[in-house]
Amino acid sequence: MTNINLLPKAELHIHIEGSLEPEMVFALAAKNGVELPFATVDELKGLQAFTDLQSFLDLYYACMSVLLTEDDFADLASAYLHRAWAQGVRHAELFFDPQAHTSRGVDVDTVINGLQRGLTEARESLGMSGGLILCFLRHLPAEEAMATLESVAHRSGDLLGVGLDSSENGFPPSLFVDVFERARELGLHCVAHAGEEGPPAYVWEALDLLKVERIDHGVRSLEDPELVERLKRDRVPLTVCPLSNVRLGVVGTMAEHRLRDMLDAGLVVTLNSDDPAYFGGYIADNYTAVSTDLGISTEQLRQLAANSLTASFLPEEATRVLLSEIAAWQG
Ligand code: HPA
Ligand code: ZN
Repeated sequence: MTNINLLPKAELHIHIEGSLEPEMVFALAAKNGVELPFATVDELKGLQAFTDLQSFLDLYYACMSVLLTEDDFADLASAYLHRAWAQGVRHAELFFDPQAHTSRGVDVDTVINGLQRGLTEARESLGMSGGLILCFLRHLPAEEAMATLESVAHRSGDLLGVGLDSSENGFPPSLFVDVFERARELGLHCVAHAGEEGPPAYVWEALDLLKVERIDHGVRSLEDPELVERLKRDRVPLTVCPLSNVRLGVVGTMAEHRLRDMLDAGLVVTLNSDDPAYFGGYIADNYTAVSTDLGISTEQLRQLAANSLTASFLPEEATRVLLSEIAAWQG
C-alpha cells in the first residue's frame, strides 16, 4: 500500500491565506471582533461550491478579513506547515497577498514578520525549510503592485521571490513588465499564475515579458503545441493543482484532467494544493487523487516529487539530499 505521506516533496504553489480553515476563520473573528457575512462553519462550508476562479476569490478575500495581527499570520503559517509536514512536505514556498491586507489597514511588515515567525518555528521544531513569495493582485493597477514592491525593497532579503495571482482573464502579464523588471533588479525570483483560466498567450507573456522561472498552473498550455515545445525545451516547471482545477471548473472532473498528457509531453510538472482549506485537500490528497482517478503510477508519483525539488528555489546541496531520499522511497 503506497504511503504518499512518506514521499518527501516540496510544495511550490500554496497561497497561505488559502490554508485558512473555516474553524480558524471563526476563532480569529471572535478574537479580533471581526463581523463575518456567514453565521456558522457549516454555512461557510456550504459556500465552497465554486463555479469559477472569481466565485472562489470572493469568498477567499472575505475570509481573510479576520487576519489582523502578527500572531494571526504566525499561527496561520504554523498550522499549514505542520499539516504539510505530516503529508511529506520538506520544503514549502509560501505565496502571500500583501495587498489584500494593506488595503484593510494591516501593515505589510506585520504580515511578513508573522509569516516568518511561522517558518522559523517550523524550521526549529521540524527541520522543515521554506520561504516567502510575495504575489501581486493582477486585478489592481500595476502602479499599486510597484508601490507594494517598493514598500518591501529594503527587506527584499526576507523574500524568495514575487508572483502574480487573482482574477486572470482581462489582466495579462504584460501589464506588469516594469514591476517584474524591478523585482529582478532586487535579486528576487519571478513566477506567475498563467494558463489557469487565461489563454496560452498569457503563458507566452509570462515567459517572454516577465521572464518568470516557473508557471503557476499553466494547464491550458496544452492547447498550443509550440508553447509545449518551448516549456519542454527550457524545462520550465509548471506548478499544477489538480483538486483546485476540479473545484474551480478548469476541468470537468478529475478523470478529465490532462496531467498524464503533460507528463507524457515531457513537461516538468509538479503537484500542489493551491488553497487547501477551500479545495478539499492538502498536497498528499492531490497526489492520491491523481493516483486513484488518473492511474498515475508509483514511478510517476516519484517523478512528480523529484520535479518539485528541482523546480524549487532550495540551494543545490539541500535539493540533492532530498532527491536521494525520494529515490529511496519504498512506494
Ligand atoms: N488563481 C489565482 N489567484 C489565486 C488563486 C488561484 O488559483 N488562489 C489564490 N489566489
Ligand atoms: Zn494559485
